[in-house]
Amino acid sequence: MTAMQSLRPEDIIAPDLDWWRGAVIYQIYPRSFQDSNADGIGDLAGIIARLEHVAGLGVDAIWISPFFRSPMLDFGYDVSDYCDVDPMFGTLADFDALIARAHELGIKVLIDLVISHSSNQHVWFQESQLSRSNAKSDWYVWADAKPDGSPPNNWLSIFGGPAWEWSGDRMQYYLHNFLKEQPDLNLHNADVQDALLDVARFWLERGVDGFRLDTINFYFHDKLLRDNPALPPEARNATIAPEVNPYNWQDHLYDKNQPENLAFLQRLRALMNAYPGTTAVGEVGDAQRGMEIQAQYTAGGDKVHMCYSFEFLSGTTPDAAKVAEVLTAYEATIGDGWACWAFSNHDVVRHATRWGLDDGAVRLFAALLLSLRGSVCIYQGEELGLTEADVAYADLQDPYGIRFWPKFKGRDGCRTPMPWTTDNHNGGFSQARPWLPVAVEHLPRAVGAQTGQADSMLDFYRRMIGYRQALAALIKGDLSDISAIDGVLRFQRSHEGQVLFCAFNMTDTAQRVAMPAGEWRQDRGAPFALAEQEGGVLTLLPYHAVFAAAENTQNAT
Ligand code: BGC
Repeated sequence: MTAMQSLRPEDIIAPDLDWWRGAVIYQIYPRSFQDSNADGIGDLAGIIARLEHVAGLGVDAIWISPFFRSPMLDFGYDVSDYCDVDPMFGTLADFDALIARAHELGIKVLIDLVISHSSNQHVWFQESQLSRSNAKSDWYVWADAKPDGSPPNNWLSIFGGPAWEWSGDRMQYYLHNFLKEQPDLNLHNADVQDALLDVARFWLERGVDGFRLDTINFYFHDKLLRDNPALPPEARNATIAPEVNPYNWQDHLYDKNQPENLAFLQRLRALMNAYPGTTAVGEVGDAQRGMEIQAQYTAGGDKVHMCYSFEFLSGTTPDAAKVAEVLTAYEATIGDGWACWAFSNHDVVRHATRWGLDDGAVRLFAALLLSLRGSVCIYQGEELGLTEADVAYADLQDPYGIRFWPKFKGRDGCRTPMPWTTDNHNGGFSQARPWLPVAVEHLPRAVGAQTGQADSMLDFYRRMIGYRQALAALIKGDLSDISAIDGVLRFQRSHEGQVLFCAFNMTDTAQRVAMPAGEWRQDRGAPFALAEQEGGVLTLLPYHAVFAAAENTQNAT
């Protein structure tokens, strides 16, 4: 077609506005991805320099953990200016360049909005704390002391101690669910909501493709400030620091999960709908009713698009029965909502270590993750099979870890720098001493060492992501026939006539697996050797998976 001819409607390929359903999202923790200016801390220019690695994985999007202005007490999850880049990470112009480069490479960009709380250095809080009568006096959650001077109720901070901090200026307490330097914004106040929606609009206008919404179920608190009831010991099933943190001894009925959130999420969605093709994934942290809340927040297509699941972030290695139980419960609960799964992130021990997996088992779990119904997050370094780094007490940075050391070592061990090359001791991450040491055991797993090595972990991740991306049944298909027999998880994924039988041997011994009734053909496109087959019975090697297509459907290969 020449430039003079005008495009006909049928020549224009409509963008897939639903691209996020089933998408693979790569999480970048910017401090530890790539340093470009030799200060030992990763930055936006560093991310740009490494985007080809991300594109090479075949993922759809990146989620970048916070890079906004911040005193960095919670490493960026304490924001002092929502509409600027912290100088340690670069400038707004760097961010624009990052979006442009990512889009050139076909990668969408999600940013991490932390709007449940701000930093105490934010001008909103600085003003709010001055008096009980200033224009922002109600922008945070202030409450009088009890007559005996103690905090207004029994709410606790996740990072230790009471959730209330005294302010001598106001002669009142303010609420903080995390550090005392992270005061909780009062979303019951419509002006606060408007200001936060303006923040979202600012970034949407700059071209982001959406948001990861930090602690989405903490946006509202009970206006009556009622005490949380105690949780019986047998019901304490939190994911992070379950034994050592008394936060997990309460049933969080009143400090989060409040019904007012739904209307706010609808306001946010209405705003996002004006930017077609954008998406939001909400992080729901709740040990007791996480699944129900995720279903509620993603139901009806008028709140958030997806919610981030904590089901596979706990310490107990999930066996086939456990995975089947979780998936069955999800299917029964999620309705028309949408889940986003992860095994690792910047808050938990890397799953290779947390679940004690060898490389074979890591591959099997990657295949499982990338076969789930929902979207998928992969945390930087996961594609290299990185294990948790052992960070010495003297090198600790995470306030959560410092507070609960040594029973809980915090989150530094999963945040050490990405190893890119094997030829220098900082793994190519930085010319300077990194903010957290590079783990020496990570160096042989550097990107450079694995690239071009057929059958490396990196190669496996690339092939498995590619396999998912080629099959609509894996991206968007229904999930059915879930079962666990002899340590083998089985389910089917199907989409518009394409039916795929998936079986995962989650044990360290070979297992025999009977295929479902009907004609099935093992799919050569999957990154596992074909299983031995006798009639309808397969022998699955330890930690191997099989993907078989129903004959006479439209499956690949
Ligand atoms: C983030 C954490 C952060 C916390 C407070 C989360 O769940 O993922 O890294 O410390 O929210 O913002």
